[in-house]
Amino acid sequence: MTTDSHKTDFHLKVAPQRSYLERDHDTWRRLCDHQLAKLKDIAPAMYWEGFTRLQLDLERLPVQDQMSERLNGLVGWQLANAQDEYLKPVDWFNHLGLRHFPVTDYIRIPEDLLFTPLPDLFHEYFGHLAWMTLPRYLNIVDRITRKYLASTEEERLVISNLWWFTLEFGLIRDEGKVRPFGAGIFSSPGELEYALSHPELHQPFTITDASRATARPFAFHETYFVLDGFEHLEAATEGW
Ligand SMILES: [Fe+2]
Repeated sequence: MTTDSHKTDFHLKVAPQRSYLERDHDTWRRLCDHQLAKLKDIAPAMYWEGFTRLQLDLERLPVQDQMSERLNGLVGWQLANAQDEYLKPVDWFNHLGLRHFPVTDYIRIPEDLLFTPLPDLFHEYFGHLAWMTLPRYLNIVDRITRKYLASTEEERLVISNLWWFTLEFGLIRDEGKVRPFGAGIFSSPGELEYALSHPELHQPFTITDASRATARPFAFHETYFVLDGFEHLEAATEGW
């Protein structure tokens, strides 16, 4: 998966989780209620399979240590601490190479309910972790990580864009419909609505096109790439 030199640099850091106000738990609860209602009929079956395995508490904010243990029991991955900002891609993939999924402990303020420019607890746990309980999905994470760590600087830009426009902000055709796929779409009420209601921004996914597109962490995107089923991503990363 990765070399031992990475292991000397990246360790699981167990830090006390910040304390939250009732207002923060309320933000979590409102986000869960809102997104579950919106996603009920449109999320792909694969997401619900992961969501059932994850067993999130929909009333209270998740506790990192508990969720890390659960993920470890399910698939042998653990959670690591991320800073409250975007990790540099190389740091991100070094964590993944060790089967540590970096999560923040930040929760958006109520004013940012529809869209937060920074990844928060809702993005990590609701957007990412359901998928991260699925071995078939983790196989793709492993492939992309392996490819990134073995690539030149120039190739690494292509690989991190591929990650961004699929696992973070991709859409997927499933049972004849375009559905949300990326964690950033799942965790943003605003971008979920925006991405699905603007079919003119949808493009069939290719690695070449995704590598040329511009990632927009602080605004909605100008292009959403549509995978033709999960098999499409498996075929695109075959042999990585
Ligand atoms: Fe993310």
